[in-house]
Amino acid sequence: MVEFVKTHLPDIIELKNIRQTYDNGKTYIIDNFNLLIEDKPSQGQFIVILGASGCGKSTILRYICGLQKPSSGEVYIEGKPLQDDTHISMVFQKYSSLPWMTVLDNVALGLTFQGMSKKERTEKAMEIIELVGLKGHEKKYAQYPTLSGGQLQRVAIARSLVANPKILLMDEPFGALDVNTRLRMQDMLAEVWHKFHPTIIFVTHDIPEAVYLGDDIFIMQANPGQIVRHIRVDLPFFRTRELKRDPKFVKMVYEIEDMMIEINSRNTK
Ligand SMILES: Nc1ncnc2c1ncn2[C@@H]1O[C@H](COP(=O)(O)OP(=O)(O)OP(=O)(O)O)[C@@H](O)[C@H]1O
Ligand SMILES: [Mg+2]
Repeated sequence: MVEFVKTHLPDIIELKNIRQTYDNGKTYIIDNFNLLIEDKPSQGQFIVILGASGCGKSTILRYICGLQKPSSGEVYIEGKPLQDDTHISMVFQKYSSLPWMTVLDNVALGLTFQGMSKKERTEKAMEIIELVGLKGHEKKYAQYPTLSGGQLQRVAIARSLVANPKILLMDEPFGALDVNTRLRMQDMLAEVWHKFHPTIIFVTHDIPEAVYLGDDIFIMQANPGQIVRHIRVDLPFFRTRELKRDPKFVKMVYEIEDMMIEINSRNTK
């Protein structure tokens, strides 16, 4: 299990001694789960979580944005217990756009709580719509099949980015995208991160994506869900696609793959 040690930096997200039981406590899927993310105000953090299907990754993100309460344990945001009115952006594994609204209204919705004029909201929303490659689709309703699955996912991503959130949770956000769009979205996200330096927790099953985007990668085991490995990604701060061919990058990908196979084999013994 990974031990987290506090430094002088302020905490931004902390989960302590989390346990998740179901069936009136007969089964538990997460136990003794701890995670500490410290704030790096002018830099942000890019945290990636990897782990087998069903180990509890989405559940952890749901705790942080307040959609689910753990059976026991504590969740702190910026050093304070998570409040009901704490608003944290999340991009879900499944499309979460609002089908009765247009693309533009979906994205601008993320700004309605900021007291901006309609004109400002539209301008800002259009900037992000362009960034995610949906310019020309803004008047369409955000529903399938008017927009494809990958386009709908980009609407959800745009909505989460538009308000420059301090914390951004992303649950396999690029899973449904074609290769080219996925690579473009990875670079777009890295660009957003460099510009606004939020703290991002990003869940993926794609190891090269984890290494390309992450500062710190945490691997979770299943039964019980716990963080068992921490990998510090010691690669340049600004990454380009060429880096994916660098022997250091490739080595890291295979090392992580080996770790995941080893962790999984412990579970299936
Ligand atoms: N109401 C429930 N009753 C029993 N088990 C549940 C319930 N809700 C969730 N679970 C279990 O919790 C575990 C964790 O689910 P979670 O969605 O967090 O996994 P995950 O790591 O995100 O998986 P994936 O990579 O497939 O998205 C799963 O094994 C799931 O079956
Ligand atoms: Mg999940």
